Amino acid sequence: MKRKLRSGMSASLLAVAACVALHSPHSLAARDAQTILKETCQGCHTPEANESLSRISHQRKTPEGWLMSIARMQTMHGLQISDDDRRTLVKYLADTQGLAPSETDGVRYALERRLNTVEHFDEQTSQMCGRCHSGARIALQRRPAQEWERLVNFHLGQWPSLEYQALARDRDWFDIARKDMVPLLAKRYPLDNPAWKKWQSAAPKAETLVGDWSFSGHLPGKGELAGVMSVTTDGKDTFKVSVKGQYADGSPFNGDGSAILYTGYEWRGNVTIDGVTMRQVFAAQGNAMQGRMFEAEHDERGLDFVAAKQGSQRLLAVQPGYLKAGSETEVTLIGSGLTGKPDFGKGVEVVEVVSQSPEQIKVKLKAAANAQPGARAVMVGSLKGPSLSVYSKIDAVKVVPEFSVARIGEGGGSTPKVQGRFDAEAWGKGADGKPYRIGVFPAQWKVEAFDDRAKEDEDVKFAGTMQADTGVFTPGDAGPNPARKMSTNNAGNLKVIAAVDDAGKSLTGEGHMIVTVQRWNNPPIP
Ligand code: HEC
Ligand code: HEC
Repeated sequence: MKRKLRSGMSASLLAVAACVALHSPHSLAARDAQTILKETCQGCHTPEANESLSRISHQRKTPEGWLMSIARMQTMHGLQISDDDRRTLVKYLADTQGLAPSETDGVRYALERRLNTVEHFDEQTSQMCGRCHSGARIALQRRPAQEWERLVNFHLGQWPSLEYQALARDRDWFDIARKDMVPLLAKRYPLDNPAWKKWQSAAPKAETLVGDWSFSGHLPGKGELAGVMSVTTDGKDTFKVSVKGQYADGSPFNGDGSAILYTGYEWRGNVTIDGVTMRQVFAAQGNAMQGRMFEAEHDERGLDFVAAKQGSQRLLAVQPGYLKAGSETEVTLIGSGLTGKPDFGKGVEVVEVVSQSPEQIKVKLKAAANAQPGARAVMVGSLKGPSLSVYSKIDAVKVVPEFSVARIGEGGGSTPKVQGRFDAEAWGKGADGKPYRIGVFPAQWKVEAFDDRAKEDEDVKFAGTMQADTGVFTPGDAGPNPARKMSTNNAGNLKVIAAVDDAGKSLTGEGHMIVTVQRWNNPPIP
C-alpha cells in the first residue's frame, strides 16, 4: 500500500518546541546524563543489572526518536525535566544507544522532513501501523521482541480507541499486532546488530569534520547552488558553521550558525541564511556530508545538500547536468580536489576552461549534432560520479513531486501555510529506447481542477495561487470561506501542470496536489 507521511495524533506540541533544541548545542553547565537518569527517570524506570534501567536501556533510536520518547514522558506521564537536562539526555542516549549509519539508510527522508515521500512498506505494516504515522518512525528504531511487544501494549493502553482511529475495526488489530507484527519487527529491526557494534568502535572522531567543505545543492522553485561551508569546533561534538554560496542565478546564499553531532554522524545544524533560520539534517562521515537543509518555519522549503571536505578528492555535481546535441553551454563542476581537464565522453567537446579551482571548474561545452543521447559519466582525472545528459529532444515532462500535499494556514490563525514546490523534470529516450532523466527545466506552471467535484467547487479559484514561472504554489487562508459552498474552507484537489518549451514545441507534465487543512500536530518524526 502507498501512503503519504501524515502526522500522528498525540498531543506532542511539546515535541515541536523541543525540536528546535535538537539543533542547538546545550549549555556547558549541564548535569551529567547518568545523574539525570538516576534522579529523573529512575522513579518510574526500575534499575536492572549492569547499570541498566527498565525500558530505556533496551532500545536504540535516532536523536529525534529519543527526543519524542522523553517529550512523551513529559506530556503523558508527568515527567518534570529542564530543557538543558533533556538535551543532555538526548545527546547521551543517541550516542550510546543510537543507530549505525547503515541502519538509517533508506529512511532518512523522515529525519530530513521530506513530507511528500510516498513510502513503500509491506501491506501488513502499512495497514497496521502506517495509517497513523510514517513507517519510517518504526524503521528508525531497534528493539528486542519484548520491547516491540511492550510498544504494542502501550499503543492500545494509551489510546483505547486506536482501532477505530486506524480506519475502523476492519480486523483484530491487537491480536495481529502481537502475533504477527512483533516477531516481524524483532527480526527486521533487532536490538543487537553487528553494524552498530562496528560503528561504535570505528566511528571517525568529530574533529575530522573541522575544515572547509565544498557543497552543491538544489532548491525546487529556485535552482542549483554551490559554495563553501566552513566548520570550526565549539566544544565536544559542537561546531560553528559559516556558509558562503551562490545560486546559479547569482543570488547569494550566505549565513552563520552552529551544529551538533549525535551518534558520531548525525549532524544537526541551525544556520541563519539572509535572516531566515534553516535547519541542517545531514549524515556526516569522514569527508562526506549529505542530507537536506530547510527553513525552520517552512520545512517544505528545502534543498538537497551534498558536500565534500576540502583536501579530499570528490566530484559532487555538474550544474546544469544537461546539454542539447548541436548546442553550446557553460557548465560548472563542483567538488573538492578537482585537477585536470574534465572529460564528458564522445561527442561532447570542452571548448574552453573558463575558470578552474580545486572546488569548481567552469567549462564551455559543445555537443556534436550527432552526439549520442543519454546520460554519460563525467570524469575529472580519475574522479567520477555525477552524469551529464545529452539530448536531442525532450520526450516527456514529469512534475516532481508527482503527488504532494499543501496546506491552508494563517487567516488569523498561528499555523503557517505549507506551500507546494515543484520541479519540471525533462526526460529523454535513449538509443536503447529506455527513458533517461535529462534534468530540471524552466517551465510555465498552472493548476486545474483534479476532477468534476473540484471543478464544481471551484477549487482552482479558492485553494491558492500558483506562481507561473517558479512552480511555487501558495495555498489560501485557513478558516471558513463564506464565498464557498456551505462556507467551507479553502481546501482543494488540483492538477499541477508544467509546460516546458523545447525549441518552440511545448511539452506538458502533470502532477496531483491536495490542498488540505493545517498540520495540527507536527512531531519531529512524522
Ligand atoms: C512518571 C513516570 C515516568 C518517568 C519519570 C519517566 N518515565 Fe519513561 N515511561 C513511563 C511509562 C508509564 C512508560 C510506558 C508507556 C509509554 O511508552 O509511554 C514509559 C516508557 C518509556 C520508554 C519506552 C518507550 C517506548 O516507545 O517503548 C522510554 C524510552 C522512556 N520511558 C524513557 C524515559 C526517560 C529517558 C525518562 C527520564 C528522563 C523517563 N522515561 C521518565 C513513565 C515514566
Ligand atoms: C492509532 C494510531 C497508531 C497506530 C495504528 C500505530 N501507532 Fe505508533 N504511535 C502512535 C502515536 C500517537 C505515537 C506517539 C507519538 C509521540 O510519542 O508523540 C506512536 C509512537 C510510536 C513509536 C515511537 C515510540 C517511542 O517513544 O519511541 C513507534 C516505534 C511506533 N509508534 C510504532 C508503531 C507500530 C510498530 C505500529 C503497528 C504495530 C504502530 N505504531 C501503530 C499512533 C499509532
